[in-house]
Amino acid sequence: MKGKLALAALGAGLLGLLGAGASSLWGPAPALAHKAKHSQEQLDAFQQVLMEQVRLGDLLFHGDADTEKQMNIKLSNTGMACAMCHPFASDSHPHEFPKFQEQMNAFATLRDMINWCIEKPNEGVKIDPDGPAMKALEAYIYWANRGSKLDTGRH
Ligand code: HEC
Repeated sequence: MKGKLALAALGAGLLGLLGAGASSLWGPAPALAHKAKHSQEQLDAFQQVLMEQVRLGDLLFHGDADTEKQMNIKLSNTGMACAMCHPFASDSHPHEFPKFQEQMNAFATLRDMINWCIEKPNEGVKIDPDGPAMKALEAYIYWANRGSKLDTGRH
């Protein structure tokens, strides 16, 4: 089954290559991911969406009570916000995930680790790993660590 899938993928890839070079034989070239350049307007709009999420994550990371209330979550019951232990998202190491995480004694994603910190040091209530608060926290943590070298499994 795996072999068949790989072959099919290879076939599709070859067709794609041929298609791109000889469109008269194979019909129009298939759409390739990110082929067309984005316009400045599109890039600005994408950046705006990102920064909205970063700002929301920043508020959550700093324990903003109103934001938590609006999102119906409670990230901490100790009075300690994420930022008190991780100022500017320090020691959150998003670029090292997924990795074997010693505190959890398990292979963990960044989202697993965010929920670990909510549940353990913060004594809060875990959040939906696919929910809006998790996405915003992830956005803030990645943004604050931008420029870090992707290095899965590093400790
Ligand atoms: C009371 C201090 C404290 C608070 C508050 C806290 N953390 Fe942590 N955090 C830790 C400790 C301790 C670790 C594990 C040690 C380590 O890996 O650096 C950790 C690790 C992490 C890691 C993984 C780092 C790694 O490389 O394994 C992430 C991500 C993280 N915290 C996010 C958060 C988020 C998000 C919040 C707020 C919801 C938060 N933390 C609140 C103490 C805290």
